[in-house]
Amino acid sequence: MRNIKFSNKLSIQLLVMIVISLFGAIFFMSIISRPILSFISMIINPNEFSILQASVAFILWFSLAIITFVVIFILLVRKKIMYLKLISDTVQHIASGKLGQTIDIKGKDELSQLAQNINYMSKELENKFIHERQLEKEKNELITNISHDLRTPLTSIIGYLNLIKVGQYKNEGQLHEYFETIYSKSQRLKHLIDELFEFTRLSGTDAMLNMSNVDLASLLQQIVGEYIPIFEEQQLSVKNSITEEDIPVLIDIEKIVRVYENLLINAIKYSQKPSMIQVSLKAESNTAVLKVSNKMENPPMDDVNKMFDRFFRGDKARIDAQGTGLGLSISKRIIELHNGDIGAEYKERWITFIVELPLYK
Ligand SMILES: Nc1ncnc2c1ncn2[C@@H]1O[C@H](COP(=O)(O)OP(=O)(O)OP(=O)(O)O)[C@@H](O)[C@H]1O
Ligand SMILES: [Mg+2]
Repeated sequence: MRNIKFSNKLSIQLLVMIVISLFGAIFFMSIISRPILSFISMIINPNEFSILQASVAFILWFSLAIITFVVIFILLVRKKIMYLKLISDTVQHIASGKLGQTIDIKGKDELSQLAQNINYMSKELENKFIHERQLEKEKNELITNISHDLRTPLTSIIGYLNLIKVGQYKNEGQLHEYFETIYSKSQRLKHLIDELFEFTRLSGTDAMLNMSNVDLASLLQQIVGEYIPIFEEQQLSVKNSITEEDIPVLIDIEKIVRVYENLLINAIKYSQKPSMIQVSLKAESNTAVLKVSNKMENPPMDDVNKMFDRFFRGDKARIDAQGTGLGLSISKRIIELHNGDIGAEYKERWITFIVELPLYK
């Protein structure tokens, strides 16, 4: 809370107003007393004044003095009272749901400070309300997407199982084909449920990391090595530029492996074939920078960072039902939990995903 200057304090201002009103009333009474007295002496002889008449005259004079004091005081304090009423009306509006409404700041006293605090509260409430509405909207979208994505493979599984149940297949070969489809649809269902589970687990504020100090270069070298046969199978060659030096980082290994694997699997799934995939890792000042690049015809949208949005899937992923559109948004959350950064760049038919993690000193 800001300190208020002594002369701006409300109590001092009120005291000054009381003093001004008092002097104002004395001045006014001294001006009007003489004509009133001469008027009274015209009606009644002053020598014939009874005690009662003198008392009544004094009470009237005193009342007039008090009324003058009150009038001057009200005139002086009017602005403050109106401002107080404005504050009270605004608080009532805010309470009735007009969040974000603010009060003009007038003066530098306790009332203006109160108005400033109310403005702050009002804006904070509005932001919280907008945030909660956004969360609610996202939750509804999530439920709609989940229901749709879960229903599709499940409907297909039930359909094929029904065909088998009623014996609607020509031969052993077709029966085997049906089993293959059921198996791959079940795998997809499992992948989807796993991704959803991971996503909701990481979305919470209490997401826990199991941190260990590792050399990122050897970890990445090992992961890339495991994927070489799959790259070759998919007609993809690998340009490996992982540094020979140690890259010490403090990470949750399981989660970071998940991020890197999604990048490599994405490169395999969505790259042009045959072509090349480039993987590089090096330390730049206090950061470990990993880059995974692959060739793609056109970026799926103007801003490639949209790929990190939940449930974003490019045409290829949607048509082939290759992905859930959750991998990169899960990765983003994992990297954020590690105080790192993840992003994408598209340049001349090459898409590059960049993951930055703080080095552990
Ligand atoms: N290396 C890449 N090259 C081209 N497009 C990509 C690449 N990586 C991601 N994309 C696009 O971004 C979308 C989102 O990727 P993301 O990893 O989030 O989900 P997914 O791969 O569809 O599903 P999941 O990772 O859960 O299996 C993909 O569907 C694809 O269209
Ligand atoms: Mg993916």
